Amino acid sequence: MNQKEIRKELREILDKERYRHSLSVERTAVALAKIYGVDKNKVSLAALLHDCAKYMDGDQLLKEARKRKLKLDPIFKKQPRLLHGIIGAFIAKERFRVKDKSILAAISHHTSGRPGMSKLEEIIYMADHIEPGRDYKNVKKIRKIAKKDLNKTIALVAEEMLKYLLEKGKVIYPLTLATRNHYLELAEGKRSE
Ligand SMILES: [Fe+2]
Ligand SMILES: [Fe+2]
Repeated sequence: MNQKEIRKELREILDKERYRHSLSVERTAVALAKIYGVDKNKVSLAALLHDCAKYMDGDQLLKEARKRKLKLDPIFKKQPRLLHGIIGAFIAKERFRVKDKSILAAISHHTSGRPGMSKLEEIIYMADHIEPGRDYKNVKKIRKIAKKDLNKTIALVAEEMLKYLLEKGKVIYPLTLATRNHYLELAEGKRSE
């Protein structure tokens, strides 16, 4: 599928706000790709498709996971919406015909991040949380840092997510915490050099 066809199909399956968010993440991610020297085409495709499974509700996501016999962390039973990244990678492959494994990995890991992400994964993770439509207390500060310090940005984005989950009394996915700790260590290591 070419970009135009992908956009058209995404527009059909996602609600208006989610589609807007996807385009906005794409623009943000492409700008970051220039700064950090990552393949623009791959970034663009991964960003466009990162939420391609977001139209499914929790039950549907669990059904899709069972259909593919995925071994699931028990947390997904409590928070099945966390699965939209993992299932999104399958949808990108099967429905949108994306073959590139690095793009599929970026879609799969965007929800929680993970320690040791590829540059492509890092950019999608950041762009998802700093696109212009995002509005939370520290977002302006994080947008500025994103232009010069990738590790610090990821640590801060993960922190914001953890704060949000705590405030809302929601379950914390351990991988989000692991992402924050890993990138905090990298950011601090860099500073003391
Ligand atoms: Fe998402
Ligand atoms: Fe998103």
